Amino acid sequence: MIKVLGISGSPRKGNSQFLLDIALESAKMVSDEVEIESYSIRGKKFGGCVMCQNCQKDGECIIRDDFQEIRDKWIDADVIIYSIPVYHMGMPAQLKAFIDRLGNSMFGRYKDNFKPEEATLPRSLKTIATITQGTHVFSGQEHTITQMINHALIMGCIPVTGDMWESYIGVGGWTNTREDRNALEQLVAEGDRDALVAVRGSRSIAKRAVEISMLLREGARYKETYFGSNPVYVPLMDRVNRKE
Ligand SMILES: Cc1cc2nc3c(=O)[nH]c(=O)nc-3n(C[C@H](O)[C@H](O)[C@H](O)COP(=O)(O)O)c2cc1C
Repeated sequence: MIKVLGISGSPRKGNSQFLLDIALESAKMVSDEVEIESYSIRGKKFGGCVMCQNCQKDGECIIRDDFQEIRDKWIDADVIIYSIPVYHMGMPAQLKAFIDRLGNSMFGRYKDNFKPEEATLPRSLKTIATITQGTHVFSGQEHTITQMINHALIMGCIPVTGDMWESYIGVGGWTNTREDRNALEQLVAEGDRDALVAVRGSRSIAKRAVEISMLLREGARYKETYFGSNPVYVPLMDRVNRKE
């Protein structure tokens, strides 16, 4: 199974969820072997990292809130699709708090796999796709996608994009100054060109994220003696060898 985790980074059920649903539906269409799960930060609590460094000892975050649940889902997924509203030209604070804590605790979690003289970071090799949208145009979409590409790289993952011309580095939509939860849905119904571009991009980015994940998994299986013996690839091989 290729496990696809969709994460809505919006605290409301709105435009991010609309594009995420479209993306997840497209991911599912790629193959019978795709399993999708939709997660939303709505109603969840994520405290900010306090740099206590406890996670560097045992990989666990001392703050007990909704972090642990989504972290476990994140670790288990082969593909992550983030659908995020632009806040202040970046991602919402709740999502940033999750990502800060995820990054540091993952480094602590896998550190004992490596010999001290070879200290390095785990390669999770998930594919990570980003969809974002805001009220305005040129108002932070690309910055937000770039933050997520940086997140993907730091996590040893593969940032992916969709098909040209809708998606250069990820999907960036806008609601044509409308603030309602269903603004994009309405715009699609009205045939708004930009909203349709965001929909097409959401479909293609999800499809490509799954396809690349399939290639990674089959490649790791084909070269199992190499990747299976290298501790850097433990997070990938744990998923490749997962009991279905
Ligand atoms: C605190 C806050 C900051 C925002 N900052 C931006 C911004 O910088 N650029 C933008 O285009 N929209 C901004 N918006 C608008 C949202 O991105 C927009 O309404 C989006 O469609 C909300 O997505 P949702 O329906 O998934 O919650 C902001 C909204 C809030 C609440």
